[in-house]
Amino acid sequence: MDPPVAQRAFPPLFTADFFRYPYAAYSALRERDPVHWDEEHQVWVVTRYADVAAALANPRLVRGTGDVTVETDDPLRRVLSRMMLFSEPPRHTRLRLLVNRAFTPRRIDGMRPRIQAIVDQLFERIAGRRDLDLIADLASPLPVLVISEMLSLPHGDMDQFKRWSDDVIAYSAGALDTEERARTSVNALVAYFKELVGRLRSRPDDTIMSALVEAESAGSRLDGEELLANAILLLMNGHETTTDTIGNGVFALLQNPDERKKLQSKPELIASAIEEMMRYDGAVQLRGVGAAQDVTIGGKKIASRQTVYMVIGAANRDAEQFAEPDRFDIERSPNRHLEFGNGIHFCVGAALARAEAQIAIGSLLARYPDLELGGGQLEWKSIPVFRGLKSLPIHI
Ligand code: HEM
Repeated sequence: MDPPVAQRAFPPLFTADFFRYPYAAYSALRERDPVHWDEEHQVWVVTRYADVAAALANPRLVRGTGDVTVETDDPLRRVLSRMMLFSEPPRHTRLRLLVNRAFTPRRIDGMRPRIQAIVDQLFERIAGRRDLDLIADLASPLPVLVISEMLSLPHGDMDQFKRWSDDVIAYSAGALDTEERARTSVNALVAYFKELVGRLRSRPDDTIMSALVEAESAGSRLDGEELLANAILLLMNGHETTTDTIGNGVFALLQNPDERKKLQSKPELIASAIEEMMRYDGAVQLRGVGAAQDVTIGGKKIASRQTVYMVIGAANRDAEQFAEPDRFDIERSPNRHLEFGNGIHFCVGAALARAEAQIAIGSLLARYPDLELGGGQLEWKSIPVFRGLKSLPIHI
């Protein structure tokens, strides 16, 4: 039987074609049905900037288990429900306060020389090669190395942490077939972090993880399990999104040679260029939330318990907010994109992610001014939440 006309009017969501280029589908939805009920996935899909910005900050739309701490024997659900990303006030306020205290702008600014040194080391590793995979050689290792140092995790175990953390991210982003693996990995992460917390309690160092442990002992009203869950959250959120931001950003530059030339002749534009890369083809495409009670968005009634996808990637291309939204303009101003969210859940790691992307892409262009796209078919990840290339071949 043919689908009803209202369904047929839009390109299907979350197919292989969609993941290659989601912006045509977003544009059709934004113009014709900006608060759209997607029958196939049983979710509301919100695509206009004004609606997404308001929804991200709407207290009636809740993440995870809201303000309820889940008591269960299942380690996976226990840990996820204790992360601030899946919590709402008053619990969220308590969890976030501690991390805010450790993640100060001064501390992040102080990381810049270290980030530069790590980027330089990664370039040393590829010295002499003409072809590289930007993802495997730079965009993927950089944020893992940086966040591992901040959390006092030894470099030697890095691949292991990344695998564990990737399993949990995939599950929390909706890949349900990874549940068993995610459960095993979360157990391994908890055991590892427990030992680390014990070590930092007796021998503090100057890392963020040590500051978190110290703050917890100083009576932050955070229990030990919450500390572990949120340290794991920092590890999880601290890398994949930054990897994808660097990959998508370099790809955008390669597709837009005039803007790339401009950036190469005026390297001081790097901060503004990174903001445009995030707006134009962001790593975080959407955030899913649940309606805690009936709520109206753009004139449509969302019933309590229904799921709402707030499509940041579509909002960031809305002509009501951005002039010529499909144009990549590294000097765009103002550029109030929603890549880091809006409201109380605004990304804790925004300053860190910006610093990493600016240093990585700025240094890449300075060191390899003639870089060009290498051969081979490009493949995009197939998860609705994140957008990123599996690999990005570059010829230098
Ligand atoms: C370019 C890279 C990044 C992007 C695009 C990004 C995006 C986001 C977004 C959209 C949110 C809000 C989610 C919501 O509304 O529920 C968020 C929250 C968060 N991000 Fe990031 N992020 C990035 C990098 C990082 C890094 C490097 C870290 C940590 C080191 C980090 C840690 C967090 C945490 C802990 C939260 C939860 C905040 C809360 O719930 O209060 N992120 N991020």
